[in-house]
Amino acid sequence: MSGSIDRREFTRLFAFGGSAALLGHPRFRGVKASALTPDRLRPGDVDWSTVREQFLIPDEVTVLNAANLCPAPRPVLETVQTHTARLDSEPFPSYRSEILSAKERTRDLLASHLRVTPEEILITRNTSEANNWVSNGLSLGPGDEVLIFSDNHPSNNSAWKRKAQRFGYSVVEVAHVDPHPGAEYYLEAFEHAITPNTRVLSFMQHTNTSGDVFPARELCALARERGIVSLVDGAQSFGLMDVDLSDWQPDFFSGSAHKWPCGPKETGVLFVNERMHEEFWPSMYSAYSGSRGLSRTHEGMGQRDTPALHTFGVQIEFLRSIGQNEIEARSRELASMLVEELSALEGVHMWTPAQADRRGAVVTFQPGELEGSQVVAALEEDGIVAAARGGRDRPGVRFSPHFYNTEVDVERAVAAIRRYLRRGL
Ligand SMILES: Cc1ncc(COP(=O)(O)O)c(C=O)c1O
Repeated sequence: MSGSIDRREFTRLFAFGGSAALLGHPRFRGVKASALTPDRLRPGDVDWSTVREQFLIPDEVTVLNAANLCPAPRPVLETVQTHTARLDSEPFPSYRSEILSAKERTRDLLASHLRVTPEEILITRNTSEANNWVSNGLSLGPGDEVLIFSDNHPSNNSAWKRKAQRFGYSVVEVAHVDPHPGAEYYLEAFEHAITPNTRVLSFMQHTNTSGDVFPARELCALARERGIVSLVDGAQSFGLMDVDLSDWQPDFFSGSAHKWPCGPKETGVLFVNERMHEEFWPSMYSAYSGSRGLSRTHEGMGQRDTPALHTFGVQIEFLRSIGQNEIEARSRELASMLVEELSALEGVHMWTPAQADRRGAVVTFQPGELEGSQVVAALEEDGIVAAARGGRDRPGVRFSPHFYNTEVDVERAVAAIRRYLRRGL
């Protein structure tokens, strides 16, 4: 009754509409599937409308909210559904152990995607959990300082601040500057804020606020040189950008499957550099840990959604079949179109930096006097999914395009904002 997951599912699912079918599609302009390794794809090799067809998003709907939650493509849905149905229909012990151990294959894929070892990979539920495991797992106390960036997500900054109250260490903040003053500025700002007591440096590679990109490699090197532990929050870069952790060598890197990787919901990753393994405490003790490296002691989380854990790996293969570089270039290209076209509209104030090397694929702007949440409601009426930014800090609207978007989506979004500015909501 069991049957191998590799044999039965991967072949069927990819034949159904996954990466094998994608690469074999006639619109791939004669590029042979066997030649399509991530490193060999060149700009122009991918037909993005074919990629879009892998998603369920109807033509008349524009989803520009990757920074929050990404739609998953068909292979993800198929894999989750198939294995969930099987767990609920034929939960024989042999199948249970097979689907449970499939997460080791996901661990291998994550390690190879991030260019680290499987022994350094923990499969979490999301970035929030991963970030909190870091702030729970280090022994910090009075006299110690944690250096953070002011824009960090609450799973990062609120966690450090609340735990500082409990354990007696202090938190020092490097403030966001608008507009992005450049990588050098932030490198210097962090360097100046370091004291002999600094134990941890925590920042985002790509911000969810205004899409600023940080010099992750250089900041990790700075931390390493000073004997400081680095945590890179990769929620807005993992699955979007080509992240090479063998080059940056952070101590920790976190990410979510359900954001830019377009993977199953409620799965995530925490990379823990081997050099930290002896001084990093688990946050949780339970059954069903992983079978390699740190996962043996730090990933016991009880019963989990095993189909989702398996599917996370399937989705990493999907990304790799297209090429992470290609995906990054495409998303940045669409974001650049949005930045340029929206900035040209009278009344728009762009919070996202104009310089392409200072931004990623998050585009935040204030559309004249219009209120962000009302604009997002109007966009919904027009079939466009976006996010609002309330409050006084860079308020307005956030568009975050990804590789499933097309130029039509960009034009539709810009036309809608132009219309609202001219005629009101
Ligand atoms: C920078 C950053 N870190 C962490 C998170 C939390 O991600 P999740 O909700 O997947 O845990 C987010 C969510 O938007 C984020 O933008």
